[in-house]
Amino acid sequence: MAVIERVREMHGELVELRRDIHAHPETAFEERRTSDIVARKLEAFGIEVHRGLAKTGVVGTLRSGGSTRAIGLRADLDALPIQELNAFAHRSRNDGRMHACGHDGHTAMLLGAARYLAETRNFDGTVNFIFQPAEEGEGGGRAMVEEGLFERFPVEAVFGMHNWPGMPVGRFGLRAGPMMASSDVFEITVRGRGGHAALPHDGVDPIVAASAIVQALQTIVSRNVNPVDAGVVSVTQFNGGRTWNVIPDEVVLRGTTRAFRPATQDLLETRLREIAEGLARAHGAEARVHYERRYPPTVNSARETELCARVLEAMAGPENVERDIDPVMGAEDFAFMLQAKPGCYIFIGNGPGEGGCMLHNAHYDFNDEILPIGASYWARLVEYALAKP
Ligand code: NI
Repeated sequence: MAVIERVREMHGELVELRRDIHAHPETAFEERRTSDIVARKLEAFGIEVHRGLAKTGVVGTLRSGGSTRAIGLRADLDALPIQELNAFAHRSRNDGRMHACGHDGHTAMLLGAARYLAETRNFDGTVNFIFQPAEEGEGGGRAMVEEGLFERFPVEAVFGMHNWPGMPVGRFGLRAGPMMASSDVFEITVRGRGGHAALPHDGVDPIVAASAIVQALQTIVSRNVNPVDAGVVSVTQFNGGRTWNVIPDEVVLRGTTRAFRPATQDLLETRLREIAEGLARAHGAEARVHYERRYPPTVNSARETELCARVLEAMAGPENVERDIDPVMGAEDFAFMLQAKPGCYIFIGNGPGEGGCMLHNAHYDFNDEILPIGASYWARLVEYALAKP
């Protein structure tokens, strides 16, 4: 692994910084302490700092040479509403909040790269270091784009990175095309006519109607989505009734859908509405569907993916770069930045981890060993993408 020597020297400081952020996790749009640390560090490195984008977002701008070319590198700042179950010294001091997705590490890696690039300036153009709030479900990436991120800080491409537990340290994964899925949520209210459980013929049972809907929703992926494409429809809540002998008036179903292609995302919504409304009617009931588009798929552009793969192969060796990694059905709000600009989102191996636990687990921790690896990747990407003439 060709980690940059100067970045390796910073390892101790990056570990300290990462653990400090880990110990003080902040959730969506409340990352005041974290964004304060980021802004003060960037200023100390001699980087121009812009605060307050999407409330707690920070952008650092670093110029070198005379080129008008520019790229953006993005890290996420926020933690999750999880009670941490780790016992190590840097465990969360904030009750009910935890860096269980490694955004503490993402922030530290980008700061490490920012420091190195500010010291060396071995590139020609502009780098915008984008520290975004509220990645976890609240759409901080979308908020930044809507507040004019790319009008204020024009870039030709934007890049993101996420740690991946289970992938060995020193390994990377990426692919051109969809890398993460879309994520939408739905609520279906099935309205019947309640009554005595012993006299079902006098009412309309929404529990039976809703059960039929839950079953039939699974035919969207098995019968409507092209078998070579992918989709998920998961009903995760089924709420109705309070006692044994009363048929309730209504049942509320909630859940989520996932897809890699916008056309499939459209199909999931259309069929979900048709099935819920049609089946409710067939049972003499009525369904009201509320469907909310949350995140589009995260789609890497071919040119930028090739660029990142080359940088990674030069750094880690081709045997450690999986160029056609399986996409993941989770969602990522970096998708909004990739809708606005070409770019590439990669996975960096976080190693097996404590007990092999995955992201969003109460025992998860970011692996400090990879801090200089990720920071070196960011630095080399800039030196390669904005190479001096
Ligand atoms: Ni995450």
